[in-house]
Amino acid sequence: MSKTNLFQDWVQSLKRTPSKSSRSRDDLSLSYKPYEIDFSMHVELRKKLVDRMNNLPQEKRHANAAVLLDGGSELPKYCTDTTHCNFRQESFFQYLFGAREPDCSGAIDLSTGESILFVPRLSSEWELWCGKAPTLDYLKSHYQVDHVHYQDEKLEVLQKRGIVHLHVLYGLNTDSGLYTVTTAKFDGIEAFTVHKDILHPELVECRLIKTERELDLLRWINTISSEAHVQVMRTLKPGMMEFQAESQFLYYCYMIGGARFHAYTCICGSGHNASALHYGHAGAPNDKVLKDGDLILNDMGCELHCYASDITCTFPVNGKFTKDQIFIYEAVLKSHDAVIAAMKPGVEWKDLHILSLRVLGEELLKGGLLVGDIEDLMRHHVPAYFYPHGLGHLLGLDVHDVGGYTDGKTRTPTKSLCKLRCDRALEKNMVLTVEPGCYFIDAQLDDLLANPEASQFVSKDVLARFRGFGGVRIESDVIVVEDGAENMTKVPRTVADIEQCISA
Ligand code: GLY
Ligand code: MN
Ligand code: MN
Repeated sequence: MSKTNLFQDWVQSLKRTPSKSSRSRDDLSLSYKPYEIDFSMHVELRKKLVDRMNNLPQEKRHANAAVLLDGGSELPKYCTDTTHCNFRQESFFQYLFGAREPDCSGAIDLSTGESILFVPRLSSEWELWCGKAPTLDYLKSHYQVDHVHYQDEKLEVLQKRGIVHLHVLYGLNTDSGLYTVTTAKFDGIEAFTVHKDILHPELVECRLIKTERELDLLRWINTISSEAHVQVMRTLKPGMMEFQAESQFLYYCYMIGGARFHAYTCICGSGHNASALHYGHAGAPNDKVLKDGDLILNDMGCELHCYASDITCTFPVNGKFTKDQIFIYEAVLKSHDAVIAAMKPGVEWKDLHILSLRVLGEELLKGGLLVGDIEDLMRHHVPAYFYPHGLGHLLGLDVHDVGGYTDGKTRTPTKSLCKLRCDRALEKNMVLTVEPGCYFIDAQLDDLLANPEASQFVSKDVLARFRGFGGVRIESDVIVVEDGAENMTKVPRTVADIEQCISA
């Protein structure tokens, strides 16, 4: 099929109105119907937290206690009256209440399990600019909470229920190194005994293991992002700009999937730019021309109802891999596939990361870029100079989701392990990215060559050929299931499939 026909097919598909049940989640058919959020998902998530809190050891449990969370607020753009971007809810609050409005709070009475959403009392001035404020009855039924009150009623509502203890959220995000910035506070909170250190680890553990409804949503988001990646693959050609990959992706996800948000800044690095792990930032905004012979590394994922996807596809912009590109690409693909084949409950993520480094090392040895024995190579961390990041990370409401390091555990400070975002054993219904890579990053190569113990394993001539090559990353989003793993990401992965997809 020609690219023109593909576009016409796409336009035709927009005229159809497939029902939810007729949508295929496996193929790459185009569908424009947004996913309908079932808010009972959050009823179930609140129950999961209540059960957990009520099963804590005696010393952490209190009678007449409630959980209280503040949602997020809009941030002004510096001193102006515009905001930084469209409001996006804070993830822990989203998890429990799913409410998309800013400036809300939510409480859960741990004795009864009842939920109370507190919303701002919106003024007529607010209504002038933003439209009619939703009624409390509408919010109660839409968000499936037990009660809705105004924020200024919070003290009275909690006291009338006989609440004495409040569990508020405060803890460390082990990816950013930052602490919670939305810890609940309000005038009158001093009337309660406030506990700051109990809720966070419990809620992190809840978020770690996804429910069936969360998995269903994550699969759907992955389908949309996968389709968008395929669309980008078929659109790019030499002479276009990197940001046209980004714009095509964003357009597809919003137009077809109703996904207004992206889970992180799009990374569309071509040629040497593919070696910058998080290229695409403000100072390098995907603005290079795509050259004939370049590989492009597209790391992009949309977000829906605040749930994320995170997919990387690497392919030649002219549609045909060179021999050197096949060598590096297939080495990374072997590493990616070996990890997914080994994933199952009970396996340590750290061991899978080491497996991914080992497979990459073995392939680089076979192709002549490295020389020597794989055990010696691993001992001297040689693969980590080419693959200087972690195997992947937990995925959920945040792209780098919470729960990677808990109970005070910290990163292992070796070259091979220091960038690993998660160090725990896999459990059923965890969701993680698998994203090995191989990059030719000048600073890493210079460090490697300056290290006499590690550089003895490198063929200097072959390495010289790869200076400026860029890099390859292959990233899929994977659910840990009972006896293995389910890869939610459906994009062409082999050299043959990619070439065929581009030429189709
Ligand atoms: N997209 C960022 C990452 O892969 O972690
Ligand atoms: Mn990514
Ligand atoms: Mn990732």
